[in-house]
Amino acid sequence: MKKLVVLASGSGSNFQAIIEAVRNNELNIEIAGLITNRDGIGAIEHAKMNRIPVNVINDTDWDDFKLKLIDQLQKWQPDLIVLAGFLKKIPPEVITGFPNKIINIHPALLPKFGGKGFYGLRVHEAVLKSGDTISGCTVHYVNNEYDRGRMIEQKEVPVLPSDSPEILAKRVLKAEHELLPSVIKKLIT
Ligand code: GAR
Repeated sequence: MKKLVVLASGSGSNFQAIIEAVRNNELNIEIAGLITNRDGIGAIEHAKMNRIPVNVINDTDWDDFKLKLIDQLQKWQPDLIVLAGFLKKIPPEVITGFPNKIINIHPALLPKFGGKGFYGLRVHEAVLKSGDTISGCTVHYVNNEYDRGRMIEQKEVPVLPSDSPEILAKRVLKAEHELLPSVIKKLIT
């Protein structure tokens, strides 16, 4: 069976969507483990509830972080690495070590509203400010530039005149929970 490793820094609702897709037999993959850069986050709770191994790598020293990340990935040997709300840059050595195996989900229709600093509610604030009437989410390969790797698939949602950043974020997140497992399925089969 193919192996997946998820990297997350937050509540982990996308990670949970992957767990549910595996549980419902929509995804035939083993989740080898979760790597986070922060302790005490929701993603860790989801892993614990589902007996998925967790490695918290919260070193502030870049080289320590990089070496521990590489070491863990070499141990778990994933076929696919999914960044599900992981907000730390992936070291170039990891990107070259796992070519075409690292994907990221972003809460907007890239190439718009992406790049350094565009994460969480900031993305949705920028979308509302722009006046765009359609937003959505994007799954793309990860390269050395934030949110600029080759695009795999997008899912659109409407932007409504009454939206606040929080309401739009919820609508986009729901679309993310559908898009991410479906892209993983396509990539592993
Ligand atoms: C998601 O909306 C994801 O697209 C975003 O972080 C959120 C994580 O939510 N990622 C980025 O903004 C990356 N630039 P989750 O922890 O509930 O899955």
